[in-house]
Amino acid sequence: MKPVILDVDTGLDDACALLLAARHPDLDLKAVTCVGGNVGLEEVVVNTLTVLEAAGRTDVPVGRGAARPLLQPVRSAPHVHGADGLGDLDWPKSTRTADSRHAVELLREVLLEAVSLGEPITLIPLAPMTNIALLLRTYPEAAEGLREIVFMGGAAGIGNATASAEFNIWTDPEAAAIVLGAAGELGVPVTMYGLDVFYDVLITLDEARGLAGSRSAELAGKLIEKRSLLYRSDGASIGDGGAVCAVIDPTGLTTEPFPLRIELSGSWSRGRTIVDTRDWTGDLTSDPYGAAPTVVQVATAVDGRRYADLWLKTVK
Ligand code: RIB
Ligand code: CA
Repeated sequence: MKPVILDVDTGLDDACALLLAARHPDLDLKAVTCVGGNVGLEEVVVNTLTVLEAAGRTDVPVGRGAARPLLQPVRSAPHVHGADGLGDLDWPKSTRTADSRHAVELLREVLLEAVSLGEPITLIPLAPMTNIALLLRTYPEAAEGLREIVFMGGAAGIGNATASAEFNIWTDPEAAAIVLGAAGELGVPVTMYGLDVFYDVLITLDEARGLAGSRSAELAGKLIEKRSLLYRSDGASIGDGGAVCAVIDPTGLTTEPFPLRIELSGSWSRGRTIVDTRDWTGDLTSDPYGAAPTVVQVATAVDGRRYADLWLKTVK
């Protein structure tokens, strides 16, 4: 089993990712940490506990982390996830409480334990990377427990929160810049599962309506139905869930190594992931900035049907 930690801002599609990570037999879900993003931190924690309960995984520790980005105010996305972040579904909320440790302390402890066991962990951030930036700045030694980081965020092409930027990176660009820089310095491999592939793992409405027979399947079906309704389409992508698929079945994802920077200013481009696809190094001789120091595996294509089947089979 591959040990993993998810960092989430649950969120309809974070919920799709949680169900998959909680139930797939090849993954050992060590912990889930929460950050404010799609909704406020308290809603994120309740939603995360609710989804894990539906998956039958009340054993997984859930850490409450940062309520807001490092520099800028919180900006939530009720138009994408509903007022409660979980589509305002008719679904009972968990009454469990989060772990007593702050998310950063929980991450540190689980990662240092992984070092002592010799079993490094794959970290899957699916939200603004505030918690991860705080972790790597406060306890850089914890990076030794990381096998890799596979994050949902950014894009080489399109944006969603703005024309230029994807929501997770746009919400906390400084955190993303810190994480990328630290990963480069500490030698942690990074994969970016961005908007270039995010929409391509599609579940049809028929498939969603066919999900039944367990609490997990029932919730999974409702999540896709709600996303379809919000997007006014006859199906929906599993969104963040695709990044978990990429950890379970990496050969379904095509990636290319590119230097990557985060735009921290710009009139209209703050939060953009600048993917340097130049293939002629001659250009660098006149580039005053030079190549970005961190090279990231950027997802450029995905086998959407294969990942959709993987998700359906697992959440059933
Ligand atoms: O931008 C895609 C991101 O926004 C995902 O992490 C998802 O949670 C959505 O809210
Ligand atoms: Ca998310």
